[in-house]
Amino acid sequence: MILITGASGQLASLVAQRTKEAGLPVETASRSRVADRVMDFDHTETLDFSGISTLFLLSAGYAEDDIVIRRHGAVLTEARRQGVTYVVYTSLSAASDHLGFALAHRWTERALIESGLGWTILRNGLYAELIGTLAAPRQGRITVPFGTAAISAVARADLADAAFEVLQNPKAHAGLTYELSGVTPFSVPHLAQRLAVAYEPTSLAAERERLSTVPLLPFQAPMLLSISSAAMAGFLKSDVSDLLKLVPQPRDALTVAYDTAQVANG
Ligand SMILES: NC(=O)c1ccc[n+]([C@@H]2O[C@H](COP(=O)([O-])OP(=O)(O)OC[C@H]3O[C@@H](n4cnc5c(N)ncnc54)[C@H](OP(=O)(O)O)[C@@H]3O)[C@@H](O)[C@H]2O)c1
Repeated sequence: MILITGASGQLASLVAQRTKEAGLPVETASRSRVADRVMDFDHTETLDFSGISTLFLLSAGYAEDDIVIRRHGAVLTEARRQGVTYVVYTSLSAASDHLGFALAHRWTERALIESGLGWTILRNGLYAELIGTLAAPRQGRITVPFGTAAISAVARADLADAAFEVLQNPKAHAGLTYELSGVTPFSVPHLAQRLAVAYEPTSLAAERERLSTVPLLPFQAPMLLSISSAAMAGFLKSDVSDLLKLVPQPRDALTVAYDTAQVANG
């Protein structure tokens, strides 16, 4: 039996849908009651992996590093103790190493590799939807300081397809780390051109000031700024991707970002 965690989230819900439609033996876990198992990584007593052989561990980010590390550590320890033999983990691409949330992913990769469990690591690139949301025009122009370099973003649906491919036969992917950056990189000037709006990037200081006026949790502003810094410095472009090995016909990332930016723009 496969267990998919974070099942109410955007990526894991797609993975759950694909695997269920294909008739794979699968259960879902979520903090919400809509799933087969109610599970919260922050509460070890809820971690019930009985009868599960393969765990699809959706990274539970959106918190300080120490919290994320504690969550993932608890899951790996309990999974092993309760007889899980295989873990497919959604990590973060090498191109994203400069981002504020990369560290907890690298910690989890190391813990998984050293755990004695079988594993496959899916190093997901930045979502095209995320870039579309962050670079959505405000008052008719894009101001986020993302520079002009290309970004190897990838559609969330492609990452779900990649996960599905692995879950169909995890052991065929044992001990493999897949770099899943997008293969049709685009820059924010490209996005602005497609949206027919101006791109007038502010400075990092101005963006930091703007973020201080937005209701965010304390850890979020530095994480968001790290995306701007890495994009501006050209570090979000990757020349290495294994995406085509798992998803032969990926979606066009610019189109996905464009669609998202349009929705975000109202
Ligand atoms: N590649 C990227 O661009 C990128 C960007 C941002 C984040 N991420 C990472 O990728 C993951 C999936 O992205 P997404 O877009 O699908 O995010 P999402 O829609 O926000 O889903 C994240 C899910 O994480 C689960 N989660 C959060 N806290 C948890 C906890 N304490 N215990 C168990 N599960 C918990 C939740 O599942 P339930 O609500 O079902 O419990 C939540 O729905 C994120 O969690 C984050 O680690 C990647």
